[in-house]
Amino acid sequence: MYVPAPGEHVSYDNLRVAVIGAGWAGVRRAAAAAGHPRTEVALIVDIDPTAAHHLAEVHEVPHSTDVHDALADSGVDIVIVATPNGHLAELAIAALQAGRHVLVEQPMGRTVAEAVAMASAASSAERVLKVGFNHRYYPGLTRAYAYFVEGVIGPIVNIRAQYGHGERPGQLGAWREDRELAGGGQLTDHGLHVLDLIHWFAGEPKEVFSFLQTAVWPIKPLEDSAFALMRFDSGVVAQMHTAWTLWAENFRFEIFGTEGAMTIEGLGERYGQHRLTVARRRAHGGHPYTETTFFDDEDISWAAEWAEMVSAVEDGQPYMGSPHDGVTVMNVLDALYRSAESGQLIGL
Ligand SMILES: NC(=O)c1ccc[n+]([C@@H]2O[C@H](COP(=O)([O-])OP(=O)(O)OC[C@H]3O[C@@H](n4cnc5c(N)ncnc54)[C@H](O)[C@@H]3O)[C@@H](O)[C@H]2O)c1
Repeated sequence: MYVPAPGEHVSYDNLRVAVIGAGWAGVRRAAAAAGHPRTEVALIVDIDPTAAHHLAEVHEVPHSTDVHDALADSGVDIVIVATPNGHLAELAIAALQAGRHVLVEQPMGRTVAEAVAMASAASSAERVLKVGFNHRYYPGLTRAYAYFVEGVIGPIVNIRAQYGHGERPGQLGAWREDRELAGGGQLTDHGLHVLDLIHWFAGEPKEVFSFLQTAVWPIKPLEDSAFALMRFDSGVVAQMHTAWTLWAENFRFEIFGTEGAMTIEGLGERYGQHRLTVARRRAHGGHPYTETTFFDDEDISWAAEWAEMVSAVEDGQPYMGSPHDGVTVMNVLDALYRSAESGQLIGL
């Protein structure tokens, strides 16, 4: 199988998908693949036989505890890698080298070197490698991006974001407390999604600064709270706070332009109803024209992201979460960690 040029359509029988890692993210990825008319789940792989068996039962497909089964099965077209961060690069690269297209969970590995190695494996193998930045596909964010491109709020001046919760690390999986497996703390875990959204709207920052804290949870040397400041060539300044110490689920992404502002809040369920507020300033000042759109609680981000993966594989369409996006955001993450360690503003 090869990646077709844009506009060239290659018709396959249903694309067959192997899911490696049957945890929180793997369950959602598998459901998205099963729900798409052109793909079917073919195999579940997890080193934990119970997790593998449980998800395989849901989809009525075989399961294995050996990743080589997914790589050796020539009937598999796409591999989803949804393991702890420490295994993402090794498994994604092995799948690409075996000729599979890959959707790999974010972060794109633990280091810039791992991200670059994945990008280069995809390029050598001429396969699609998509990094799972599902937050771009929440409808409030998708719509906000379309409004921004239309010029509804004018050029961006500032972005402010906060994302996190207050759950005790350990409830989400012990690997997040292990530097070897996680790579980083909350700046990596939730922060990377926000860094990707900021990258989407504002491009690549030129200077970054951060303060990290390990304020509450006993997870040193990992951080449970991170503040980041970023400045872009365009003059845009962005600020982010991401923490496991917010005590309630919290997502808020604000974009301020010269003509108005947009605020995206909530991600459904415990994060509160997903909504987009657009404010357009009046020429003569005063309270802006304001409109809020509320979205259903159902999380459609996984299905929307998967649809883009399928059209990249079948039609060679450009896709978000490209290797370039993944490496760019890993560079920003790395610079933020270096800033926190050195106390310096870091140029990129
Ligand atoms: N896009 C998102 O919003 C989002 C949300 C959660 C997690 N994630 C990402 O998904 C990945 C997994 O996170 P999670 O929350 O699902 O973790 P999890 O602990 O719920 O699941 C991980 C699964 O991987 C299995 N596993 C571990 N090592 C393996 C290996 N070598 N081969 C096969 N299986 C292995 C574990 O047994 C476990 O079942 C991480 O990279 C995380 O950052 C993304």
